[in-house]
Amino acid sequence: MLDRYFRFVRAVSINRIGLLGVALTTASFITFVLLELARLLGVVTQAYVGLISYMAFPAIFILGLLLIPIGWKRAQQQTGLSGQELLDSKFGEGDTRKGFFGSRVALSIGAMTLLNLLILVIATSRMLHFMEEPNFCGTACHTVMNPEWVTYQESPHARVACVDCHVGEGVEALIDSKLSGLRQIMAVVSDSYERPIPTPVHNLRPARETCEKCHWPDKFYGQKLKTIAHFAEDEASTPEYTTLALKIDSGRRGEVSGIHWHVAEDNEVRYLAANDTRTKMAWVEVRQPDGSYKRYTNRRVLEADASAEASGPATAGHGADAVRTLDCIDCHNRATHIYEEADVAVDHRIERGLLDRALPYLRREAVAAISGSYANREQAAAGIQSHMENFYRRNHPEVARTESSKIDQAVAVLQETYQRNIHPQMRIEWGTYRSHLGHKGGGGCFRCHDPALQADDGSTISADCTLCHSILAQDSPAAFAYLGEADSTSQDFRMHEYLKAEFLSYSRK
Ligand code: HEC
Ligand code: HEC
Ligand code: HEC
Ligand code: HEC
Ligand code: HEC
Repeated sequence: MLDRYFRFVRAVSINRIGLLGVALTTASFITFVLLELARLLGVVTQAYVGLISYMAFPAIFILGLLLIPIGWKRAQQQTGLSGQELLDSKFGEGDTRKGFFGSRVALSIGAMTLLNLLILVIATSRMLHFMEEPNFCGTACHTVMNPEWVTYQESPHARVACVDCHVGEGVEALIDSKLSGLRQIMAVVSDSYERPIPTPVHNLRPARETCEKCHWPDKFYGQKLKTIAHFAEDEASTPEYTTLALKIDSGRRGEVSGIHWHVAEDNEVRYLAANDTRTKMAWVEVRQPDGSYKRYTNRRVLEADASAEASGPATAGHGADAVRTLDCIDCHNRATHIYEEADVAVDHRIERGLLDRALPYLRREAVAAISGSYANREQAAAGIQSHMENFYRRNHPEVARTESSKIDQAVAVLQETYQRNIHPQMRIEWGTYRSHLGHKGGGGCFRCHDPALQADDGSTISADCTLCHSILAQDSPAAFAYLGEADSTSQDFRMHEYLKAEFLSYSRK
């Protein structure tokens, strides 16, 4: 059998071109099988290896196959023999004689072709499967995707595949994603991609379709208690607590409802953003029970836009021209790729006990150390170290001497914090990717819950402090400060009483 195969191969590789073809096909096949085995056994795990083997193998394999008939054509031209005569000269009489199903040679060629097609189909399906693994998406283009990969692995969705959120259902979405993948590879090769990668992602798979596979609005009810610890900039880095009871109900029309009201059945909020980043609203509409829409308009944005347009189209602000229906991503834009702010990052690590606030002025100095501007990661690591060490050596020499291990630990944690959040090669700085979940600095919810947006009847979208959350403590010494007895001599007495009553009456509903 093997003997027959070799005879066939020798005959097929009629000249140098044919021989090269057979060699390429065979070699690429063997390499592919070896690499696949190595990957299956876990000997090699790098995504690059997969990328190379899946991109290069089929190409070389097909090239080799194409060379074989080309070799035959050349041989025919050079010898002047017809195809049949060449066949006769290469194969034995018995092989070329036509039988009932065609000659043995024809049968062999047919069988080999089928086999080759099968190999290609298997390789292609292995490739498609491989390209859907987060490991591939996250690491094949290392520099570009590294920030997303790092943040993804620490997120609540670390076990959800990238393609589950980024590629839609069906063949069309698959082809779309491969085409856009090809464009991205070209951009990486030609070094023409944008840094940082622009956000929002305009072709993200529809959020309702994606997210609602695992979370759906009916599941949102009641309140979610959240205590946020901040640490003051004093010597002791004194803790301060803010506790919110977030009203996360979705409800239905007419029922008690809250934050997920926007995505509940029957409800629709849509908007026209005045910029590409969707941080400024031109107008917001909400569907009324009769199917009409009530519109809240920001006249200042519209007027600024009109005058910008009048002064020349180049400055007109309508980057985002499409009207968009609010969905999960308008609030949870950082559901997976979660970047921290410098002060919040330090607060989290003090809270988790990674940074020891027994060191004087730890919070203040830690934030200063990681917020410095550094040219690259090596300089950052060195800069953070010298900032912390110099501070204690100069101002607290006795601490520098006795607590050096705590300082070393703080330096290591802060260096790690910096690496996790800052990616100079992609121009990702503190605050490049902001979260919309909240209203720090006036963005987030306050893009719409903003008195500047007005309906024709003068009404606005509520920005009442207890619309979205009860407040049980705000930068207070205890996490549930406002649930305790109010101090009648304090200037916060009325507010304290009010917030307590609001929470207790809301819970009883
Ligand atoms: C749970 C859903 C989810 C998963 C899983 C997920 N992403 Fe994302 N991704 C998002 C959302 C949401 C955005 C932000 C969209 C926006 O702001 O418009 C985003 C944005 C991005 C961006 C644009 C840059 C940015 O941060 O805004 C890139 C690149 C990206 N994701 C790559 C990946 C890669 C690679 C993986 C897998 C390692 C992955 N994503 C997994 C939901 C997801
Ligand atoms: C394949 C299932 C799956 C998909 C798809 C998915 N999630 Fe999740 N999500 C989870 C799981 C599981 C958790 C809980 C993780 C935990 O408790 O640590 C979670 C947690 C969350 C949380 C709570 C995080 C926290 O800190 O408590 C939010 C918010 C969230 N997901 C939003 C989204 C959004 C927005 C999308 C769509 C872009 C999405 N999820 C898509 C499975 C999924
Ligand atoms: C109007 C803004 C907004 C929209 C739209 C929105 N969410 Fe939320 N969601 C929030 C806020 C605010 C919270 C509470 C904040 C927190 O958990 O820190 C929350 C909490 C959650 C949680 C955690 C709930 C829990 O019990 O811990 C999940 C899961 C979630 N949202 C998923 C979704 C999904 C899926 C969608 C789309 C169908 C969606 N959200 C739409 C603002 C929104
Ligand atoms: C794109 C605009 C937009 C954004 C962004 C937005 N909202 Fe809203 N929200 C609305 C509109 C419009 C209404 C309804 C106003 C009305 O009743 O006419 C509303 C209503 C609400 C309500 C009251 C629901 C009820 O029971 O009637 C809550 C609570 C709420 N939003 C919370 C939030 C939170 C929390 C965020 C940020 C995480 C947020 N919203 C972000 C547009 C927005
Ligand atoms: C439209 C809904 C909405 C309104 C109105 C609103 N908030 Fe918030 N607020 C939120 C959400 C959402 C968060 C983020 C919760 C989280 O971290 O998950 C938040 C966070 C906060 C925080 C914690 C910030 C931090 O990280 O330390 C404070 C304090 C706060 N709100 C106070 C207020 C006050 C005071 C008002 C009235 C001026 C107000 N909020 C109005 C939705 C709202």
